[in-house]
Parts: sequence; structure tokens; C-alpha cells
Amino acid sequence: MGALPAEIVDALQDISGRHEGYRAVHAKGTLCAATFTPSQRAREVCRAAHFQAGPVRAHVRFSNGSGNPHARDAAQDARGIGVKHYLPDGTTTDIVGITRRQFFVRTPEDFLEFTRARRPDPDTGQLNMERVGAFLGAHPEAGPAVREQLAARPPISYGTVEYNGLHAFRYVAPDGTERWVRWRLTPEAGVQVIEDDDEVAALDRDYLQAEIVERLERGPVAFALSVAVAEEGDPLEDATLAWPEERERVELGRLEVTAIATDRERDGDVLVMDPTRVTDGIELSGDPILNVRGDVYAESVFRRSGARR
Ligand code: HEM
Repeated sequence: MGALPAEIVDALQDISGRHEGYRAVHAKGTLCAATFTPSQRAREVCRAAHFQAGPVRAHVRFSNGSGNPHARDAAQDARGIGVKHYLPDGTTTDIVGITRRQFFVRTPEDFLEFTRARRPDPDTGQLNMERVGAFLGAHPEAGPAVREQLAARPPISYGTVEYNGLHAFRYVAPDGTERWVRWRLTPEAGVQVIEDDDEVAALDRDYLQAEIVERLERGPVAFALSVAVAEEGDPLEDATLAWPEERERVELGRLEVTAIATDRERDGDVLVMDPTRVTDGIELSGDPILNVRGDVYAESVFRRSGARR
């Protein structure tokens, strides 16, 4: 591993501070128990074990993007989801997504530069708009993600937002057919956000953590997992470019979140959701952001737990 993953984690922690035991980003979240049940179409398009033989047990971790575990849940921030599927052979495979349709940057080097530019001024605690503006001026590809971020409203619940994996993955079907896909989780409850600014201002700091506990007491929280299938020429290695919404979409199954989980992340158990942890039948694209994430997450895991993978 080169120095870049450590430099990236340093830059992230320069923004949010170092919070012992917490993830370097997505520090605040709630871990849940879940089940994934594949559709018939899933069996046809991907030979991965959880699409062939389900239902499988899963863990779902809902989170906020910030590295500050005490940040307000209503902050202008992306929310995240990590899903760890437990496969019949005892291995696991993960998907990790956010409530956005495209990413800010194309490369790990740009991620580092932008993260450094976003470091608040040590004297005032304010963003240095000149540095941020200079980065954005030089990187027009960040525009769609920035506009999406500025327009986003806080969700009613972690269970009422859409999550996207953003990167392209190759699915290999049982008959050998290969498809490039990007996945999405769509909430069965529908997308529901809070439009009223006064209502947002009055929200409790931890309203999302409390809401998901209450919602699960009333019943399961479910999402439809689907993938968009790439057409010739669609970008496979650039998460700043969303694919057209009219791409063919294949329904892969149902993720049902059933309860708050109490069986992991206790007594020193280290849980890692890592999008590069794929399984037979699913392959990574060459997207440089996707490919750096394994090493960056490992660095964060080491800093929060002392564990090396
Ligand atoms: C270069 C780009 C990125 C960097 C440097 C980065 C960095 C990190 C780090 C350090 C963690 C904490 C890992 C741990 O301690 O377990 C993390 C977690 C996470 N990241 Fe990223 N990330 C990047 C891109 C993305 C993208 C593109 C997405 C969504 C598609 C994403 C979604 C998440 C989520 C949801 C978590 C929390 C997972 C959990 O709950 O365990 N990240 N990221």
C-alpha cells in the first residue's frame, strides 16, 4: 500500500477531528439486522451466491457522511448505507452506497486535493471559499454532485431515501453473459424528506438514530435492490457521470431491515463494509475511486481498531 490512503485519511480527519474508535467518515450510524431475498431475474443475471440462493442474512448500517460522530443528523450531508451479506459458504460480500446519484471527483488524487481544500480555517473554523472555489473552477466534473448536495433536504428517515452504489460492477450470469451495472436501493416507503426549514431547525441532534429505532418497532423497513444496465459508451470508470435514467433496470430483490442489531460491533468485534469485497460473479470496474477504497477503508479500520486485514 502506498502513502495515498494514509494521506487521504489524514486529510479527512483534519476536517472532522480524530475520534477514537470511530470510522474516519460515516462515523455516526445505526447497525441493523436484515434479510436479502433475490428475485427470479437476479438468478438469471448474476451467479453470485446471494442472488442464486436466498434469502440470506445481512447486516445494514445506516450512517451520515461526516467523520464527526456528534454531528447533527440534519446537517447538509449525504447519508450512507452499508450492507453485508452472509453467504452460504461462510464468506461475506458487501455493497456500500450513498444518497447521491454521482460522486464529486474522478480520482483518489482529486479526492485528496478537494478534501484538503475543504479543511476549515484553523482560526475561524470557516470553509476557505477561495480554495474550495479554485478546486471547483478547475474541476467542472464536480458540478452535478455539488448541485445535488446543495439541493438535498434532510430525510424523514434512513428508511425513506434512495441509496446508490455509484461505481460500475460487472455481473456474470450463470450462462456466462456479462453486464456492466450500477446498483440502487429504492425505499418501499417512498422517498420522503423534510422541506420546511423551521422543522429542520427544530430536529433533535440524533433524530435519525431515534427514528429508525421507532420505525423498526412498528415493522420492517424494506428496499428494492435494482441495477441499471450499461449501454455501449456509458462511462464505467467515472462516478462523476450518472448514467441516463432511462437505462434498462433489473429488479434484483428485496432488502428487508428487521431490527436493531446487537450481535456485532460489541466487545471488540470489528465490522467493515467494503465495496471492493465482492464475490464470484461480481467484478470491480477499473474506476480508480472504487479501487482505492479498499486500502483507504483498511487504514481507517486500523486507526479505529488496531486491526490489519
Ligand atoms: C475516494 C473516495 C472515498 C474515500 C476516501 C472514502 C473513505 C471512507 C472511509 C475512510 C470510511 C470508513 C471505513 C471504516 O472505518 O470502516 C468510509 C465509509 C463509508 N463510505 Fe466511503 N469513501 C470514498 C468513497 C465513497 C463512495 C463513492 C461511497 C458511496 C458510493 C462511500 C460510502 C461510504 C459509506 C456508506 C461508508 C460507511 C460504511 C459503514 O457503515 O461501515 N464512500 N469511506
